[in-house]
Amino acid sequence: MCGIIGYIGKKNASKIIIESLQRLEYRGYDSAGLATLDGKDLYLCREVGDLQNLINTIQEFPVKGSLGIGHTRWATHGEPSKINAHPHTGRRDQVAIVHNGIIENYEQLKEKLIGKGHKFKSETDSEVIAHLIEQYLDNGAQILEQAVLCALMDIKGTYAIAAVSKKEPNKIVAARCGSPLILGVGDNETFIASDTSAIIPYTRKIVFLEDFQVAVIDDQGFKISNINGSSVNYNITEIDWDVTAAQKKGYAHFMLKEIHEQPQMVKKILNEKLDFKNLDLKIDELIKIKSQILAAHQLIIQACGTSYHAAMIGEIIFEYFTNLHTDVEISSEFRYKHFIAEQGSLVISITQSGETADTLVALKKAKQRGLNTFSLCNVVGSSIARESDSVFYIHAGPEIGVASTKAFTAQLFSLYLISIFLGALKKNIKPELKNSLIKDLTYIPSLMSRVFDVENYIARCADKYHEFRDFYFLGRGINYASALEGSLKLKEVSYIHSSAYPAGELKHGPIALVTENMVTVCIVPKSVTYDKMMSNIQEIKARKGKVIAIATEGDEQIKKYADDVIYIPEVQEIFSPLLVAIPLQLLAYYIALKRGCNVDKPRNLSKGIAVD
Ligand code: F6R
Repeated sequence: MCGIIGYIGKKNASKIIIESLQRLEYRGYDSAGLATLDGKDLYLCREVGDLQNLINTIQEFPVKGSLGIGHTRWATHGEPSKINAHPHTGRRDQVAIVHNGIIENYEQLKEKLIGKGHKFKSETDSEVIAHLIEQYLDNGAQILEQAVLCALMDIKGTYAIAAVSKKEPNKIVAARCGSPLILGVGDNETFIASDTSAIIPYTRKIVFLEDFQVAVIDDQGFKISNINGSSVNYNITEIDWDVTAAQKKGYAHFMLKEIHEQPQMVKKILNEKLDFKNLDLKIDELIKIKSQILAAHQLIIQACGTSYHAAMIGEIIFEYFTNLHTDVEISSEFRYKHFIAEQGSLVISITQSGETADTLVALKKAKQRGLNTFSLCNVVGSSIARESDSVFYIHAGPEIGVASTKAFTAQLFSLYLISIFLGALKKNIKPELKNSLIKDLTYIPSLMSRVFDVENYIARCADKYHEFRDFYFLGRGINYASALEGSLKLKEVSYIHSSAYPAGELKHGPIALVTENMVTVCIVPKSVTYDKMMSNIQEIKARKGKVIAIATEGDEQIKKYADDVIYIPEVQEIFSPLLVAIPLQLLAYYIALKRGCNVDKPRNLSKGIAVD
């Protein structure tokens, strides 16, 4: 999605805005722009493409002012172009706005405004907001706040906006409905932003704005009210993120850094949730809803994309450890579906950003049905976290690479902890088994670290296979979801076509495409279906297909059949997705690198899809 930022303080606003946009770039990189006010002078600068283009222009033509707004765009309405880049201004260029979201009734509003003599400069839905605000100011609204409130009454859709006006050059008015917006409270300076990571180097004091709230910020501070004018009680939350967590720290890309962070990250989750001495899990987030959990006979897990793949693994492990009937749903389908759920069922939402629109709407639907809700989120204070009865933060830290890597394994690891805890609470697993499972989990960080021993080998595989145009990913049981995730990673960062299947399905159609031009990545760790996987590999080899196997260390037999074998340390099958994920991520990364792709910012993508 798009990222927005606003700043009022004593420093040069364009510098702060650009630095913040660099941290928001993962939300969109089709264009970027900013507007600053210096007295009554409005400076506007916008460039298409990478943020660096805006930086170059600002270096050449510096802008003044210690108040301003900025935007990084993921195009929805109107192609990526300078004219469609934000900020947008009204008909007399008195008002400038930045917007994240979608204005559903923009065509009707635009028509009305054109009837009143407005001329539109862009193809975006957002520009209508600037025109509306200016129209209200021209028609007698005394102050910007009043004009913004009137404009918001006309708008249908989702928004996080920030507006400035030449008439009140010391003020930003910001509002949200369905798109994230936070306020940062600094020393003699105030920020607004789409997320915390944008402003974390300047302040850790955050106010999470709710839907239908409006913030008016000036050089004296800020006030927050509801869209109907009533006052609001708000909390200032102190965020404890490490500032350097959102930096590359010597890695070529965020994706590579985040892949490498996984062993330490999992260790951190363990430190947070495990009493090592007694091998006891401390999951207060579940205790908080203990009575609902004990009463539940059914679980429904819902998520999108990579988080959905974690949810698929969640389905298997919840049924295994808790013996509860568990369904898994893609949020964008679930939200429209007539589903059957027993009263008291628990709906678990999984989301890195906590802002994915489909997941949020599906969660609200579950609440309307009277179901209990629990979520796994990474971003603290996000909409889904706040909407759920209880939230478990996965503590992956900021994930900047657009392709999700460490959030996936943090979600998985959290699901193991939660399902074991729940299994014990439900008395489905005996204390001895619980202890031995937890003990196995304590070895995961060091086993994950060992996977990196084969990183160079994976890079060599990438050299060998990066020019192939078609990939299959096959897995069985719990690793079918791993295959789906490996396939998604490859296509999103390297733009190679790939699909994933449960290996048993190969013979029911997909094998028709296997030739010497097809590479199949077979996930074949030691498991109950190992022999079946071996047969599948031989079926592929018989048709001259290339095979890369991900197998357990010490498995010599596989070398006879696979063209290349990437070894992972031995681990119980149920926990194997935690290790399998890493070579799949590295393979996608190195293939994309070899193909010259922009791994951190793959084309057409953005992080945290907060629109329908
Ligand atoms: C893929 C990826 C996406 C997200 C999906 C859900 O690498 O990142 O598929 O997993 O958009 O996002 P969240 O988890 O933020 O709800």
